[in-house]
Amino acid sequence: MSHHDLSSFRPRLLGISGSLRAASHTTAILEGLRAPLADKAHYEVFRLNEVPLYDGDLDTANPPAGVAALRAAIAAADGLIVASPEYNYGTSGVLKNAIDWASRPGGQGAIKGKPALIITSSPGTAGGVRAQYQVREALSGAGARPIVRPHVAIAQVGGKIEDGKLVEKDALDFALAAVDGLIEEIRILAHYKALA
Ligand SMILES: Cc1cc2nc3c(=O)[nH]c(=O)nc-3n(C[C@H](O)[C@H](O)[C@H](O)COP(=O)(O)O)c2cc1C
Repeated sequence: MSHHDLSSFRPRLLGISGSLRAASHTTAILEGLRAPLADKAHYEVFRLNEVPLYDGDLDTANPPAGVAALRAAIAAADGLIVASPEYNYGTSGVLKNAIDWASRPGGQGAIKGKPALIITSSPGTAGGVRAQYQVREALSGAGARPIVRPHVAIAQVGGKIEDGKLVEKDALDFALAAVDGLIEEIRILAHYKALA
């Protein structure tokens, strides 16, 4: 892939869902991005069901299979779309745990240097916005590059989903504009790396 030929620039994006349940709104948001992104990015959604709780004793050269899969998916991505529910005014333990695994080995984890867009949602009126800061801080601690955008915080999300996908136009358009921002960030970084 040439990062200089803008017409063929097709970044690899990875959505990571911070909720495990099958009918998750968080996962549905990531699934809703799939069709609109088809012509501009390679896109996969990673679910964290197989990632165990962080255990330093398992944090070896041969980590649990779910951890290896998470790290490989992140390593292969040019940018991340990190989607979180809001649990007790913060992010989910599931998502924080994944960021912790992806940050290891310390200072050289798969997530290091990856541009990352944060999306939150909730059935309530605040759109999970209270989880944004925790995800941003954890990504920063892990050495990722959380991108600077107006918060994508999707309120009353339940009514915006059909058949396991975000479909409500305003929310989808707002999220897609933010994904365009992520792609732009990837492009800027690729350009910088080519110069360095
Ligand atoms: C332990 C727990 C704590 C929650 N705390 C909040 C909260 O602080 N704010 C909020 O808006 N929703 C809260 N909720 C409701 C979640 O936003 C809701 O369950 C949401 O659907 C979870 O995301 P998901 O659909 O992706 O699984 C909480 C849910 C759980 C299970």
